[in-house]
Amino acid sequence: MTAQPSDVRTQSSEVVIRYEQVCKRFGSKVVLHDLDLTVRRGETLAIMGPSGIGKSVTLRHAVGLLHPDSGRVLVEGHDMATIERDDLIALRRRMGYLFQDGALINWLSVGENVALPLRENTALPESEIRERVEAKLALVQMHGTWDLRPPELSGGMRKRVGLARALVTDPEIVFYDEPNTGLDPEISMSVNHLIRDLAERLSITSIVITHLVSCILVVADRVVLIDQGRVFAEGTPEEFLENENERLKRFLAKPYD
Ligand SMILES: Nc1ncnc2c1ncn2[C@@H]1O[C@H](COP(=O)(O)OP(=O)(O)OP(=O)(O)O)[C@@H](O)[C@H]1O
Ligand SMILES: [Mg+2]
Repeated sequence: MTAQPSDVRTQSSEVVIRYEQVCKRFGSKVVLHDLDLTVRRGETLAIMGPSGIGKSVTLRHAVGLLHPDSGRVLVEGHDMATIERDDLIALRRRMGYLFQDGALINWLSVGENVALPLRENTALPESEIRERVEAKLALVQMHGTWDLRPPELSGGMRKRVGLARALVTDPEIVFYDEPNTGLDPEISMSVNHLIRDLAERLSITSIVITHLVSCILVVADRVVLIDQGRVFAEGTPEEFLENENERLKRFLAKPYD
C-alpha cells in the first residue's frame, strides 16, 4: 500500500493556531458560532464547507484582520485580538497569506506585487529581491512575467502570482484561501504538490481552504468541514471520504450546492 501523507509526516504536538469558541457576526448574520479548531506545528489543515459559510472569515481571524465578537484566536500563544503591535509585526513576518481573490495591486507590476513583502519586511539589496521574486515566480510557473500588470492576467495567473507573493518571504505559517481557483487541472495539481512539498521540506504549518477532494488528498493531514459556524466533521482525508454521514457525502459530491 502506498504511504499516505499522514503516515509519512512528523508532526509536533505543539499547537500553533488555536480557535477557542470563536463567535463572529456581521449585523444580524451569525457566521461563526463557537468555532473550535487547532493546528499543530508542521500540520496542514484543510477547511471545507459550503459557499458563504465563513471559511475566509475564519482565516482572516488567524492573521488578526478580523477579531472575534467572543472567544479567542491564539497564534503561538498570542491572542490575535490583543497582541502588541510589535509582536504582531514580528509574527506577520513569519506568515504568508494567499487571498481568495489574489488581492494584487493593479497599478504595480507582477514583480513588484510579489516583491512587496520583501520590501516591507526586509532590508535586502535590490539584486537579492529580484532573485527571490524570480525564483518564486518560476516556482508557480509564472517566469518571465515581472513586467506584466494584474489586469493583463487571467484569474488563474493572478492566483499564482498571489501564491508567489504569499511564499516570497519563506514563511513558517501559511494560509491558502482556495489555492486552486481558476487553475486548469494540470497546474492545479502542481500547486497542490507545491503546497505539500513545502510543508514536508520546511515543516510549514498551514491552513488550506478548498472545495476540491483532489486538493485535500494531496495537501491535507486533517480536514474539517465547517457548517453553521462550527466544525461539523473532522478527520484525515481518507476518513472524510469514507464517512457515511449523508450531509458530508452530499457536500463532497457537490461542494457548492
Ligand atoms: N467584512 C464583512 N462585512 C460583512 N459581512 C461579511 C464580511 N466578511 C464576510 N462577510 C459575510 O460573512 C459570510 C461568510 O463569508 P466568507 O467570505 O467567509 O464565506 P466563504 O465560506 O469563504 O465562502 P466562499 O466559499 O464563497 O469563498 C458571508 O455571508 C459574507 O457575506
Ligand atoms: Mg471564501
